[in-house]
Amino acid sequence: MEVTELLTLPAVLTLLVFLLSLPLITKFVKTRKYPNLNLPPGSLGWPVIGETLRFLRSGHEGRPELFIKERMEKYDSRVFKTSMLGEPMVVFCGAAGNKFLFSNENKDVQVWWPTSVRKLLRSSLVTKVGYDAKTMRKLLMSFLNPEALKNYLAKMDSVACCHINTHWQGKEVVLVYPTVKQYAFELACCLFASIEDPTQVSRLSPQFDEFLKGVISFPINLPGTRFHCAMKAANAIRELLKLIIKKRRVDLEENKASPTQDLLSHLLVTPDSSGRFLTEIEIIDNILLLLFAGHDTSRSVITSVIKYLGQMPHVYEQVLEEQLEISKGKEAGQLLQWEDIQKMKYLWNVASEVLRLSPPVTGSYREALNNFTYANYTIPKGWKLTWSTGSSHKDPTLFPEPDNFDASRFEGTGPAPFSYAPFGGGPRMCLGQEFARLEILVFMHNMVKRFKWELFIPNEKFLYDPMLKPSKGLAIRLNSH
Ligand code: HEM
Repeated sequence: MEVTELLTLPAVLTLLVFLLSLPLITKFVKTRKYPNLNLPPGSLGWPVIGETLRFLRSGHEGRPELFIKERMEKYDSRVFKTSMLGEPMVVFCGAAGNKFLFSNENKDVQVWWPTSVRKLLRSSLVTKVGYDAKTMRKLLMSFLNPEALKNYLAKMDSVACCHINTHWQGKEVVLVYPTVKQYAFELACCLFASIEDPTQVSRLSPQFDEFLKGVISFPINLPGTRFHCAMKAANAIRELLKLIIKKRRVDLEENKASPTQDLLSHLLVTPDSSGRFLTEIEIIDNILLLLFAGHDTSRSVITSVIKYLGQMPHVYEQVLEEQLEISKGKEAGQLLQWEDIQKMKYLWNVASEVLRLSPPVTGSYREALNNFTYANYTIPKGWKLTWSTGSSHKDPTLFPEPDNFDASRFEGTGPAPFSYAPFGGGPRMCLGQEFARLEILVFMHNMVKRFKWELFIPNEKFLYDPMLKPSKGLAIRLNSH
């Protein structure tokens, strides 16, 4: 038999998958070689896949905290070991676990992201640690801090109004999740790179979808895999951004573009704290990062807020009252001012309670920089560490009757430190918290002012894939005021 006859597609694929899995298998074997260390209790599950499938299953069922809760009860309520994404992993539980991970960045732990994220977002902030991360965060923050975002509020409001006029006004039934996606994407295109032409936005949108689907995936770069499609889509977006940058440099020189018009101009004209300008590749990768980090997260929260307001008319009425008060005295078409945002206290408490009960992200990752002790167990150097929003958000000692919706939990000084972490914490906390706050408040202000709604499926299931989303897209019947 000829050798080429053996090289059928399935045989080649099997061989490739085997070769690509070898590092994971080696890692799995190595992780079982710690007989002398007092490791946290727990199970490493199956070879290579570990407990990934069980973790994903609880997320698909919409209850990711169950995976954590079961193991906290079975092993130790403070910390346990497992294996996910091909890595041995230690789960730090509750507010104490959050406190440890968030307070020890660059000491015992360091941020870590799955391989697919690092390969797709190459030179962006997520692949940087220590001093490099600090300077890059500072530079990105100079665009994303509240003072800077004040200047973009009017733009956000006009994007929201225009989006609602086009996609919601006059419709009887709207599928919320895919529709809000367009708002989040239009807003990001506009504020990050001044891409406003609807044809260009809709041409970019499917490529962006392909990219998003593969950011958290098995990093197997073979035709047909999610990861491969995401790499191709990311490269196509990069080429487009390269063209936009080329034109923008010329426009900035000729004063045809403003240095403050969007994130792109900002990064082209602003050096970091060491006086260095980001390279073109770094600018592009960071724009891709913010597109990824800010897209499905905010979209998930807006969808969940619409769900909760649809389920609880008394909360809706209170939100409406606050928003009408803000609109009172404004002329038709007058856009939101910064002072208006400060008055949206109840709406933000509602959104914060939604973020507690239905956080879009289940947690994030760190890596042990050296062997260290936590809760009397040894955590080995190189092991991956994670925390989970659910383990503190649903803790009845921190949030009495944790499954009940109660926006008043956020009045006054609010939750205890480290108990509420939808945006993570410490030096690697979410950079887009203020951006997300404005994006959500501005959108919901425009929504409640114009409509009341009913849910088609009152208890539609929400699941994590990898972020929280409604299983059927959340259809609502709109009634204009
Ligand atoms: C409600 C919406 C959002 C939620 C719930 C959220 C949540 C998170 C979480 C949990 C992390 C990990 C933090 C940690 O490891 O401690 C994170 C990181 C990050 N987020 Fe967000 N995020 C949201 C919106 C946004 C937006 C709108 C942007 C950008 C415009 C953004 C940009 C980032 C970036 C750049 C990081 C990485 C920070 C670093 O590695 O230093 N996020 N986010």
